[in-house]
Amino acid sequence: MLRTVRATRYVLPLREGGSLPAIVEADDLGLYVVKFRGAGQGILALIAEIIAGEIGRVLGLRVPDLVFAEIDPALGRNEPDAEIRHLLKASAGLNVALDYLPGSTMFDPAARDAAPSPEASLLVWFDAFVLNVDRTPRNANLLVWHRKLYPIDHGAALFFHHYWPSRESKIESPFMEIEHHILLPWANEIEEAAKAARARLNPALLADIVALVPDAFFEAIPAAPGAATSPAERRAGYIDFLTRRLAAAEIFEQEAIRARTRLL
Ligand SMILES: Nc1ncnc2c1ncn2[C@@H]1O[C@H](COP(=O)(O)OP(=O)(O)OP(=O)(O)O)[C@@H](O)[C@H]1O
Ligand SMILES: [Mg+2]
Repeated sequence: MLRTVRATRYVLPLREGGSLPAIVEADDLGLYVVKFRGAGQGILALIAEIIAGEIGRVLGLRVPDLVFAEIDPALGRNEPDAEIRHLLKASAGLNVALDYLPGSTMFDPAARDAAPSPEASLLVWFDAFVLNVDRTPRNANLLVWHRKLYPIDHGAALFFHHYWPSRESKIESPFMEIEHHILLPWANEIEEAAKAARARLNPALLADIVALVPDAFFEAIPAAPGAATSPAERRAGYIDFLTRRLAAAEIFEQEAIRARTRLL
């Protein structure tokens, strides 16, 4: 179960994020970065944040703690910025939020940031597993905080769910996009990381993670041809995808190793 907090104050928009996430204070006095359900990427991005983020955590990656953030439509009433006011209005109800890491910076090789090889290799494996295209030099989505790495922004992972019938064809995808991964230059232990990752994941655990997504999120997905309809059907589809992708992991592991070899 993920905790639920109530947003009490809109603090600051994070304008570098395309979905206009924001720092929000909650009733536990904590500061969170809220990913709004009313943003352009919609509820599917929030579902991806939860499923991919919690898989990353199980693998031992430092994904900031995730919570649900309850947004009251009145929260944005006095916001001078119309875009923010509309976003808050469209996001009434449950949203996804991450623990805010104050003073963190974005991973930047030009600023001489570097990554330990086991961690870089594990992150490469993880992003290939969940099909995350958003970990590139242009947009690292990798925070450095007290000299440690914190992967964020998994809203673009599992992108097959934007067109549900493509799910089947992505199960055994080698995920060629891995060649653009920002940590590939440091990932020289992909085989070892793969072994460790496979040892940590199993179908029951993947089902537990998918179960974290509330029914209300699945019910908010706009109907589309060929898409699963009930929350139970939808959940089963994610579990089936992740279980079979794990069983076929060698395909994307070999591609990541090849992409890394091409770099050298
Ligand atoms: N937990 C956090 N702690 C501190 N800063 C954060 C945190 N989460 C996000 N940020 C900052 O907010 C920015 C936007 O967040 P995020 O990447 O999740 O949003 P997005 O709208 O999905 O972005 P994108 O434009 O990459 O799709 C990040 O680039 C980072 O600078
Ligand atoms: Mg981002």
